[in-house]
Amino acid sequence: MPEATLGDLTRQLLAPSARSDVPPFMVMDVMAAAARIEAAGGHVVHMEVGQPAAPAPKTAIAAARAALDGGRIDYTSALGMASLRQRIARHYRESYGCAVDPDRIVVTTGSSGAFILAFLAMFEPGDRVAVTVPGYPPYRHILSALGCEPVLIETSSETRHALTGEALLAAHRRTPLKGVLVGSPANPTGTMMSREALTGLIAAAEGAGIRFISDEIYHGLDYAFAAVTAAELSPQALVINSFSKYFCMTGWRVGWMVVPEPLVRPIERLQQNLSISVPTLSQIAAEAAFDGRQEMEAVKFGYRENRRILSTGLPQAGLRHFLPADGAFYLYADVSEFT
Ligand SMILES: Cc1ncc(COP(=O)(O)O)c(C=O)c1O
Repeated sequence: MPEATLGDLTRQLLAPSARSDVPPFMVMDVMAAAARIEAAGGHVVHMEVGQPAAPAPKTAIAAARAALDGGRIDYTSALGMASLRQRIARHYRESYGCAVDPDRIVVTTGSSGAFILAFLAMFEPGDRVAVTVPGYPPYRHILSALGCEPVLIETSSETRHALTGEALLAAHRRTPLKGVLVGSPANPTGTMMSREALTGLIAAAEGAGIRFISDEIYHGLDYAFAAVTAAELSPQALVINSFSKYFCMTGWRVGWMVVPEPLVRPIERLQQNLSISVPTLSQIAAEAAFDGRQEMEAVKFGYRENRRILSTGLPQAGLRHFLPADGAFYLYADVSEFT
């Protein structure tokens, strides 16, 4: 055997793992490029990332400031501060009329942190998990990094980009699925699933033994009709949400899950080991954000106005092919005749 050269050895020592070979989350690359242009004195109009222009509500900022003045910022329980978990449970009662046991609520590092915990707790390496296309790219990238196989199901404007039970079961017949993840309101289409559509999809999934994950990060930003939480429709569904969008707290990195009871302890053990707990200051601010509803509703009103202006303005500018945006702050227009 020829002797390995020093160069070979160094390459071997420094070679990244195959699982880390995920595509970039492109908006973050664009954001970094924009930051480089700005650092060099350039001017950038930021349209690259789904980020509220408004800051966190004043109630959140005041609570964080008071906590800082108070001195120690300690670890919290891995599942999150008890008072925040109770406040989130109250939010389900008040906003959806849905009773959720605070013991089933897990505070996470944004919804991004929740995906990692949920996928680890629900799936084995090699498991196939369906996600829709168009869709939020990190779903499939995180699944790949964890050794799961994302199964991409294309949706079309005919179903308003909603995944149907039939399409899910057809994919399941081709390659058995262990799970499915959908978001409503959806990124990037801005469309929402009706109560009937979501109920039908969950029934189809669970009837076939497919675990259901609902990304509800854009709840609160619904214009066409009230968004329905999967927590109300099935105790087996795992719901993911975040303070990033409606609550205008992207950089605070705090979100939550509503977890089926048997998964609470496994997720607690994962979070204990992976991150100990979610940043305490952010949890304190998040709890107080619920008291800033007036401010957040004013921001939402602005989105509603943007939506109205775009819905009438884009056709005048020649962009005629798009579905009405039901929620979130996206509008998905077909530009294929121009590019
Ligand atoms: C559909 C969807 N899910 C999840 C996330 C992640 O958000 P966060 O980790 O800030 O909660 C985003 C961010 O844009 C998103 O659009």
